[in-house]
Amino acid sequence: MQVQGSSALVVGGAGGLGAATVRRLVKAGAKVVIADLAEETGQQLAAELGDATRFVRTDVLSEDSVNAAIAAAQELGELRISVDTHGGPGGGRTLDRNGNPLGLDEFMKVVQVFLHGSFNVLRLAAAAMAKNEPQETGERGVIVNTASIAGYEGTIGQVAYGAAKGGIIGMTLPAARDLSVVGIRVGTIAPGVFATPAYGQSLDAVEAEWGPAVPFPKRMGHPDEYAHMAMAIIENPYFNGEVIRLDAAIRFQIKGSRS
Ligand SMILES: NC(=O)c1ccc[n+]([C@@H]2O[C@H](COP(=O)([O-])OP(=O)(O)OC[C@H]3O[C@@H](n4cnc5c(N)ncnc54)[C@H](O)[C@@H]3O)[C@@H](O)[C@H]2O)c1
Repeated sequence: MQVQGSSALVVGGAGGLGAATVRRLVKAGAKVVIADLAEETGQQLAAELGDATRFVRTDVLSEDSVNAAIAAAQELGELRISVDTHGGPGGGRTLDRNGNPLGLDEFMKVVQVFLHGSFNVLRLAAAAMAKNEPQETGERGVIVNTASIAGYEGTIGQVAYGAAKGGIIGMTLPAARDLSVVGIRVGTIAPGVFATPAYGQSLDAVEAEWGPAVPFPKRMGHPDEYAHMAMAIIENPYFNGEVIRLDAAIRFQIKGSRS
């Protein structure tokens, strides 16, 4: 996909991995809608990056809200790129220490935000992209989802998150097959541990806790390394229907990535 001159949607674009992707896309000549629930950080990023970006407050669970972000992206140019990096709630253990089962509503909320939210963005972005004229490569669009290595090897307390991320991994190939007829590619990145605000601690504290468990490089990932991978998926026309682990060889252990 030719990035220069394309319009892009980055959902969760005010967050750690999303903002890094917005920066890479802008640098490569795209116009970008930063679609996120977080008004303050989203507006700040848009103000910093100037005319090439617009912030649109977006909730992944609302069709109207995602469509409004898509419409804003279409005002900036033909929407050809959609990257979804939105976050969501944490979960809990299947049974807590007193033997009480995890609430079904709690489980469903996590799956809803991460999995249903990702599909909502994917389906609505695809519907918009399908109306584009194909580029020379035959491509009308490219969609990047964000899973997690917890979708393969979730740790204790990640039963809902692991289910949601496993769902994103599972929908990648069928979505790519569905969308092959309209020239839209689909790829998913499954990150390991990346230093972002998602951990709710200072980045130094997060690094000290998680970095040593990573084989090599022996540190957490930088958000720009996620963005680099997203750009590779976007730019390489032969990439389709695949999930890439981006994890510096870490494999979560039973209680998380700490050694
Ligand atoms: N950071 C990591 O180590 C890591 C590892 C594996 C997977 N991931 C996944 O990568 C994605 C991005 O993570 P991050 O570390 O950048 O998180 P982050 O918390 O820095 O950013 C997430 C962003 O999503 C936004 N958001 C939350 N709910 C939303 C909603 N309903 N609609 C729209 N936007 C919403 C938040 O406002 C925030 O700006 C998440 O899906 C996360 O599960 C992250």
